[in-house]
Amino acid sequence: MHLPSYKEAKKREKKPYQTKDYQLEESLNKYHNKTYCLKTYGCQMNEHDSENIKAMLEEMGFKEEEDYEKADLILLNTCSIRENAHNKAFGMLGRVKHLKEQRKDLIVGLCGCMAQEEGVVAEIREKYKWLNFVFGTHNLYDLPTVLEKAITEERQAIEVYSTDLDIIENTPVVRDKTYKAYVNIIYGCNKFCTYCIVPYTRGSERSRKKEDILKEIDNLIEKGYQEVTLLGQNVNAYGKDLYENYGLGELLEDIANKKIPRIRFVTSHPWDFTDRMIEVIGKYENIMPSVHLPVQSGSSSILKKMGRRYSKESYLELFDKLKKVRPNIAISTDIIVGFPGESEEDFQDTLDLVEYCKYDNAFTFIYSPRENTPAAKLKDDVLLEEKEKRLYRLNEIVNKYFKDNNEKLVGKIENVLVEGTSPKKKEMYFGYTETNKLVNFTGKDIKVGTIIPVKITDAKTWSLDGEYNDK
Ligand code: 5AD
Ligand code: SF4
Repeated sequence: MHLPSYKEAKKREKKPYQTKDYQLEESLNKYHNKTYCLKTYGCQMNEHDSENIKAMLEEMGFKEEEDYEKADLILLNTCSIRENAHNKAFGMLGRVKHLKEQRKDLIVGLCGCMAQEEGVVAEIREKYKWLNFVFGTHNLYDLPTVLEKAITEERQAIEVYSTDLDIIENTPVVRDKTYKAYVNIIYGCNKFCTYCIVPYTRGSERSRKKEDILKEIDNLIEKGYQEVTLLGQNVNAYGKDLYENYGLGELLEDIANKKIPRIRFVTSHPWDFTDRMIEVIGKYENIMPSVHLPVQSGSSSILKKMGRRYSKESYLELFDKLKKVRPNIAISTDIIVGFPGESEEDFQDTLDLVEYCKYDNAFTFIYSPRENTPAAKLKDDVLLEEKEKRLYRLNEIVNKYFKDNNEKLVGKIENVLVEGTSPKKKEMYFGYTETNKLVNFTGKDIKVGTIIPVKITDAKTWSLDGEYNDK
């Protein structure tokens, strides 16, 4: 048994990481008459981990069952970012407990960020003794052996490491889509923003070798993929731990030269967004004009308390540079309201910044204290009622700009990557523009996974309407 420890998780040691290949022990390929149901919570990183988890289970013989009430194995891939993510996972465990009471042979597991939390694992050991197994983000590839242990030894198997281990390549993957794919480029985060639990649950910044990333992308291109999204908690730190002169700018350039039609990357920390990256974004049309640039707050004093390493002014300078280098660029953001000590004046600074940036998309959150983070020690002094009011006021403004920006596209022709047809109406399709806006459009005999021109006919707050422009 290995249990998570925050003290260990906090350490950042400079060490070279080994790269190893995943391999399933032949004897574990034996669950051919069993089914699994995987529930995924949280960010794209978790979604992509789930694509690996599915493939590992399927190599063991398991088949997917979407209805968790019918599955032989239920696995929750969890998120820790805010309290409501916790509540969702624990709510699901509550429902699963009833099933487990009826079916003793049901196997239930938990993985993902919550598995890395000391408090969560302590609660599981005390109150969820029926849960069969837990494994963490650093040993995802141990799933087959931990699961096997839980089944054969008939006791709770908990294998969570607090610090990062080797980088595992060639983990099998069942991708959700056949035309767009996630590609991990860097794991972990060293930023330690004071409100954020991620540096403790996902470990140190560790970049994958550029050769491994480029090989994965070559394979995707060969299979006909149209879009790749490079993933990391902070993709801008890519390469710092491995190379002297090779970072995200160089990686983006090498990928852009491969001529894949669409390249995206998430998430960027404004602090290490270099001029080199901006130059590359300006130079290559297949790097999509869409950047997620979380600001968190428009108040320089709150940004300081958040440990974000930039001020309102330096953020806006970066914002302007991006707009200048790609005038049609869509910039999206994340904003937290009600951080400890946030005054009405600080909040007003956030509103002013939003009025200036007129974001194309924004994810807005109420501050949620997270176990063991530095901010959790501060007095959470903004009343919940006030936090809710601020969130409402902020959303009114960001929504207005989503609609305004969308309206500017009416009458224009946008390239859209077709993702599917509407379940309700035949000949109604949907897809995403280069700037990552959802378009519902009419057309005939269009192939999912192709990029086609669509004339925009109407604008809503969160989507556009259009028609296939086959002229
Ligand atoms: N409370 C509220 N929002 C948070 N985020 C991260 N930690 C917290 C927290 N403790 C938000 C940030 C981040 C996004 C992924 O989640 O805005 O960019
Ligand atoms: Fe969390 Fe900050 Fe790292 Fe983003 S950059 S994952 S907000 S610590």
